[in-house]
Amino acid sequence: MDSLMIKGGVPLEGEVEISGAKNAVLPILAATLLTAEPCVIRRVPNLSDVKFMCEILRWLGAEVTLKGDTVRVQAKKIKGMADYDLVRKMRGSICIMGPLLGRLRKARVSLPGGCVIGARPINLHLKGFESLGAKITIESGYVQAATRRLRGSEMFLGGRAGSTVLGTANVMMAAVLAEGVTVIESAACEPEVVDLANFLIAMGAKITGVGSPTILVTGVKELHGAEHEVIPDRIEAATFAIAAAATDGEVTIKGARPDHLHAVLDKLRATGVSVTRRGNDMIVKRGGRLKPVDITTLPYSGFPTDAQAQMMALLTLTPGISIITERIFESRFMHVSELTRLGADIEIEGPSAIVKGGRPLSGAPVMASDLRASAALVIAGLAARGTTAVSRIYHLDRGYENIDGKLRKLGARVERVSES
Ligand code: EPU
Repeated sequence: MDSLMIKGGVPLEGEVEISGAKNAVLPILAATLLTAEPCVIRRVPNLSDVKFMCEILRWLGAEVTLKGDTVRVQAKKIKGMADYDLVRKMRGSICIMGPLLGRLRKARVSLPGGCVIGARPINLHLKGFESLGAKITIESGYVQAATRRLRGSEMFLGGRAGSTVLGTANVMMAAVLAEGVTVIESAACEPEVVDLANFLIAMGAKITGVGSPTILVTGVKELHGAEHEVIPDRIEAATFAIAAAATDGEVTIKGARPDHLHAVLDKLRATGVSVTRRGNDMIVKRGGRLKPVDITTLPYSGFPTDAQAQMMALLTLTPGISIITERIFESRFMHVSELTRLGADIEIEGPSAIVKGGRPLSGAPVMASDLRASAALVIAGLAARGTTAVSRIYHLDRGYENIDGKLRKLGARVERVSES
């Protein structure tokens, strides 16, 4: 297992190029299962989650070739089942279920189980499949959806925390090959859902309303091959913007989509950070003294849960009290105890974390628990005095392409060390 050794206290300076979005490319790769024709996906980030999704597609029978940041998939003949060993490694793999149900009228996938950020149920995915006419059975750890005819219908996919991103993606991917019209109410509005819909439309699907809470899908008989370029990763862009502010640096974030980042940029500006847009580039620098802010995570276009941990790292450096309330996942505060090891003063009160910021951080060995918690520890380590060793960084490699290389290019003193 590798760890990152970070010698903190160096302001990040320079330019960083944003890679394709992990949470867009995973369902898009799954969507290639909907046609026997070849599909070409560009701007694919080099991430372990992406490699893993390619492995799943191969296991299901697709031909997959990776060249640079381009993936070509042809799923001429596929099987409708994925076993536990495949699904347990990455929760995102549940999004193969919709395409399998759409194309084969049956899908059998091992139940993914929980993960450190919460229970992560799939009841809303199954509600949507049932509404399309699939019979759902759960047996021996597997969930099966099967039907002879998939029929469009009206459904409400809102849950305890609002809409579901992969649930919306999954049901949309089944509905494109259903008979008739499907209306998804309380659909997720995330840019990643819009990107998936754009790929499906390029494949011949009929979809309107994406980006709004009501998605309308008119089923077609079959889809054809298509080419698509994945949107830039808004969470990677947010992470670098927050890191620039935390280290009192100045970073130009290139090739991002600032229009996908309104909530994050608004909170950064409220803390006193200067963000200047130049087309799709953003120049981020700390304007002066940081100010505390309160943040509540919400479905898009609210503040993303995937940037909550990173923002907490910044707020530990901000004099005053900031309150962060997590409304999407019930246990997404795994980074708190590790940030405390670096000297942060944070208390958890139910769904909120009370950050008493302004104390200087000092380097220490810390352990990454999930992807975004790891990013928060890296940001804190970059801002801390002394050396921070972040272990278990395979979490980071799941969702950040070449994060240590990109940070080094910005002047950070970061080294990847192999632990035996
Ligand atoms: N939920 C249900 N029932 C369901 C599905 C979800 O109750 O059937 C609940 C969840 O428990 C949670 C809320 O709905 O409280 C939102 O979960 P959602 O389904 O939107 O999450 P997801 O689709 O499983 C994706 C991203 C996550 C990101 C969330 C929220 C991918 C591969 N994953 O997960 O990304 O945090 O949306 O935006 O797209 C990450 O990148 O670090 C990450 C965890």
